[in-house]
Amino acid sequence: MSNFDIERIKSMLGTHADFPKEGIVFKDMFPVFQDPTAVEALITNIVYHLTSTHKEKIDVVVGLDARGFLFGPLIALRLGAAFAPVRKAGKLPGDCARAVYAKEYGEDVFEVQKSAIKPNARVVIVDDLIATGGSAGAAGELIKKCDAKVVEYVFVMELDFLNGRKALDAPVYSLIHL
Ligand code: ADE
Repeated sequence: MSNFDIERIKSMLGTHADFPKEGIVFKDMFPVFQDPTAVEALITNIVYHLTSTHKEKIDVVVGLDARGFLFGPLIALRLGAAFAPVRKAGKLPGDCARAVYAKEYGEDVFEVQKSAIKPNARVVIVDDLIATGGSAGAAGELIKKCDAKVVEYVFVMELDFLNGRKALDAPVYSLIHL
């Protein structure tokens, strides 16, 4: 993807001061979905990155509740991989792995269905944004609890000043650095 495309997507992001709490500058990616050519460019970039980086098959793309659900299935479809959701506690039926994490604003519990993550599966974790890395790190923990392997974390946006990638123990790819 050209710098032009990255700058175009960057210019489409919404910025909302003091949302959802005072002191948070919220970056909103929903405006990008108003332009399908921007979504196409974004997904193509991420899929190109993954296919050129990983010679072994990616088995599962895991999307994080809730905005990871917008990008994860699109990426999984292009890779010919499965998609599995990581959801806030109490939303997924069946036997689930569970992990607690601290967020930029608050604390939460994540779950994944064990049946969706087979032992030794090669997994990519996807979300719209990495802030402190707390939620992505908890998702990584879930994958380990299922005896599978996180081969990469992928984000559309990264808040560089929070250095959240330091909390993660696999390579991190972000399209847009803020
Ligand atoms: N998630 C955590 N921090 C965020 C932020 N600043 N903007 C959007 N989503 C977020």
